[in-house]
Amino acid sequence: MRSSEIEKKADFDHIRYAQLWEDADVLTSALGNCADQTLVSICSAGDNALAMLTLDPARVVVLDLSPAQIACLKLRIAAYKVLSHSEFIELTGSRPSNRRGALLARVTDATDTETQRFWQALSPDVEKYGIGGVGKFERYFRIFRTWLLPLVHSRQTIDEVFTPRAAEARQTFFDTRFNTVRWRLLLNIFFSRFVMGRMGRDSAFFDHVDGSPAQHVAQRIHHAGVSTDPSQNPYLHWILKGNHGEALPLAWRAEHFETIRSRLDRLDIRLGSLEAFVSTGEKARGFNLSDIFEYMSPETFNQVYGAILTAAEPDARLVYWNMMAPRRVPPEYRDNVKTLTEIETRQKACDMAFFYSDFIVEEVVS
Ligand SMILES: C[S@@+](CC[C@H](N)C(=O)[O-])C[C@H]1O[C@@H](n2cnc3c(N)ncnc32)[C@H](O)[C@@H]1O
Repeated sequence: MRSSEIEKKADFDHIRYAQLWEDADVLTSALGNCADQTLVSICSAGDNALAMLTLDPARVVVLDLSPAQIACLKLRIAAYKVLSHSEFIELTGSRPSNRRGALLARVTDATDTETQRFWQALSPDVEKYGIGGVGKFERYFRIFRTWLLPLVHSRQTIDEVFTPRAAEARQTFFDTRFNTVRWRLLLNIFFSRFVMGRMGRDSAFFDHVDGSPAQHVAQRIHHAGVSTDPSQNPYLHWILKGNHGEALPLAWRAEHFETIRSRLDRLDIRLGSLEAFVSTGEKARGFNLSDIFEYMSPETFNQVYGAILTAAEPDARLVYWNMMAPRRVPPEYRDNVKTLTEIETRQKACDMAFFYSDFIVEEVVS
């Protein structure tokens, strides 16, 4: 089995992402028509692999190096099976609840022993924050929201962010109420490379990133607050208020609950790297690659990209994000794929998971 560069550097015993911070609407639109095909997805917390079931694929191979991340998906599978939709979104943390302990116990009873043990240990935190709130990344946002945000904005200002408004009124609100000197100072401190590396992302993940995370975040906040409508943004709502508002991520919406539930047996979950999958000789028609390329050196990225092409069927799409480090088809493979610029532009404009700098859709030339 080929090992992955990041596997040697980061710690995979704990949940890093307890929910998906990549917009599944953007992902599923970019993958296009995948009915009856094999798809591949990086697991992370599992929500986007679940969202991909709405495309009616024959199967979704779900990969992750981290047993803790795979345990997130296994728990969700049991939750879809034993809970109603309203119970489900209480357990996730999307909605307030005082019975998450009991909901979790029902769900863990329907999982394997390992998953059960893993999640039982997290029960006190699940009661407080929901299963979508117990990762390192969400803890980072929680510290921001609990200790720092109140120094800058009142509760009323935060609530007013989510008042539906037309684009012009959003710009005025942003300029006059939100983007204050204190807010800008807070961004510069909280999103300094040092603090982010210590609290949110493993510092190894910054090895290949240029530029200041704070500058990048400031631009992206404008996208989330002005270019797109905050009242429709579940990710922004969670960051600023600790739960979801009216808008939910795709896989957690009522309208997809039964569809996903009825297709859970199409998930093929594998603990291991993408690099290991592409060396099995299996082929797929679409790849949700999250932002994993950013965690690789440019040389490793080139090698892995080439290996993915050998596992890609004609017309297969490679869909991925960049947060800060630029990654697109390496020059040596430019003749093998075409960039679907129109889809990229359209989807980037409505990407609610606003912190990424780029969204890439490449299609294998048949
Ligand atoms: C790349 S991270 C990004 C998370 C993401 N932005 C989110 O919102 O969830 C997603 C997952 O990729 C996994 N991962 C990173 N490199 C991988 C690789 N080469 N093969 C398989 N999984 C990988 C990590 O363990 C992590 O759970």
